[in-house]
Amino acid sequence: MTFTLKNENIVDGPDKFSAYQQKLFHPPTPHEDFSAKIENKDCRIGMKQLAENSISLVLTDPPYFIDGMGDDWDTQKLNARVKPGVIGSLPAGMKFSVEQGQELQRFLSPVAEEWMRVIRPGGFCLVFSQNRLAHRTALALEDAGFEIRDVLIWRYEGQAKAFSQDHFIQKRKISVEEKERLISKIGGRKTPQLKPQGEMIILGQAPRDGTFVDNWDKWETGLIDVNNPLINATQFPGTVIPANKPKERYGHMTAKPVDLLQHLIRIFSAPRALVLDSFAGSGSTGVAAILEGRRFIGYEIESEMADRAQERIKATFYSKTYN
Ligand SMILES: C[S@@+](CC[C@H](N)C(=O)[O-])C[C@H]1O[C@@H](n2cnc3c(N)ncnc32)[C@H](O)[C@@H]1O
Repeated sequence: MTFTLKNENIVDGPDKFSAYQQKLFHPPTPHEDFSAKIENKDCRIGMKQLAENSISLVLTDPPYFIDGMGDDWDTQKLNARVKPGVIGSLPAGMKFSVEQGQELQRFLSPVAEEWMRVIRPGGFCLVFSQNRLAHRTALALEDAGFEIRDVLIWRYEGQAKAFSQDHFIQKRKISVEEKERLISKIGGRKTPQLKPQGEMIILGQAPRDGTFVDNWDKWETGLIDVNNPLINATQFPGTVIPANKPKERYGHMTAKPVDLLQHLIRIFSAPRALVLDSFAGSGSTGVAAILEGRRFIGYEIESEMADRAQERIKATFYSKTYN
């Protein structure tokens, strides 16, 4: 049974596939119209192969652009970093400088332009963003032509990371009395990091082709499905979405919860829609897309991670199909 799909030329809609593409994209299973794949590529190169108006939903989680998580992201190096709580070498993600926002925007702007090219009119673009850089993510989307419709919050319980200053004072070459004076004056205050309890997801929308009705009729994008939310199923879907951090992270430091991604895919895309994740990591978006009966294309620059993500997607597909 062939699963690894080599086709470079994703076009939305099976009627547009050549016979060869059809064969690659349609494993002989009850899910005749299934297709999902991860490409081990820099998305800035890979996305150029996608046809205009071929993507119904962009759902992605780019590098955070806080230290060690920029355009030189390296999982091995990140995993080797000091664990949280150890003072001396700050744990991954805790160093910050004002240039990081500008760097993120410079990195994301051409990517967002590519999203604008490939997305269908009215299509939604949901981009996870570290809270202190979310404004830069929004600017990159807006500059590329997306309308910023909202900011959603993935609500979770994080761990407090603020540092006490006592340790640093104790290490100073000053008298005991001076140390005591400083510690007493600081009064237990810590570095300015409140306990993280949520992460922003910027919601952009591509310009519509006519009215909401006409746009949906032609492209099946631009309206939201509020009938069957996965999270808080009895409520009208809201902007704050609670979801636990995943217990299994598939070797990825920032793996996102699959139920949260399923919830978003359900609301913001139609069945069988083609979902794009340009920064696929461990493949969580692909797994969610399959579980929701959508098609999927993802890019991941690290080859080991891309292989792992592809395996995860394949396993999800076969377990959904045969169980
Ligand atoms: C924040 S993580 C995504 C995690 C993912 N949401 C998950 O649940 O596993 C960002 C990923 O983007 C990848 N990446 C960084 N730059 C990239 C690029 N230019 N093209 C494709 N992938 C890239 C990194 O290797 C990393 O795995």
